[in-house]
Amino acid sequence: MDGNGRWALKRGLPRLAGHKAGTENLRRIIRACVEFGVKYLTIYAFSTENWGRPREEVNGLMRILEDVIDRELQELKDQGVQLRHLGRLDQLAPNLQEKVLFAVQTTEQNSRLIVNVAFNYGGRDEIVQAIQQMIRDGVPAAEVSPELVSRYLYTAGVPDPDLIIRTSGELRISNFLIWQAAYSEWYVTPTFWPDFGKEEFQKALKTYAERDRRYGKVAAPEYEGSNG
Ligand code: FPP
Repeated sequence: MDGNGRWALKRGLPRLAGHKAGTENLRRIIRACVEFGVKYLTIYAFSTENWGRPREEVNGLMRILEDVIDRELQELKDQGVQLRHLGRLDQLAPNLQEKVLFAVQTTEQNSRLIVNVAFNYGGRDEIVQAIQQMIRDGVPAAEVSPELVSRYLYTAGVPDPDLIIRTSGELRISNFLIWQAAYSEWYVTPTFWPDFGKEEFQKALKTYAERDRRYGKVAAPEYEGSNG
């Protein structure tokens, strides 16, 4: 959900106003996912590196998450949304941990759309915790496989992302799902997240539908005609 800060700056507003506008947009995109039949949506809301932002912004983001759970949980339940959390919960304030767990538990029977909230999430951190847990479990080296690693990640049981959308024009992965994104398709747009509405989301999905996903192989007809 990149570009909230610049969206606010352009309007002479504080950065947190951009994050609030970003949260409004998240509501629109969740509704659009339900309408378009998207089954999984993962949002990158707070990275393990975001702790390095000014204290006021960090506290503001924590408060926004808390408010969103208080305000939106009922509508999310009504829409059939299941919430999941990706990341380290234990570094959040105890009352926020409880709220996140409550939101996860009260929506766990829903299946129309699964919304993974990456909050205090980092891809490297996720891989490190997976390795630590495998060692604690005494997994023999010969049994470590891509499938096993996937089962130790926060995203266990969730398919790898088909499409990753990065708003605000930045061309980097920023520690997001670095394992899971091995063969994801990318859509990068200069639009700041608060302005990335339903129409552009639909355009991104249409662009994705036209992609030829080869997973490192070659397209079938080309393969038949090639000599190696
Ligand atoms: C990136 O834009 C955005 C964030 C780091 C925070 C996103 C969080 C929310 C919209 C709300 C909180 C979470 C939930 C789940 C409701 P940026 O600040 O890096 O923008 P910039 O690059 O323009 O400065």
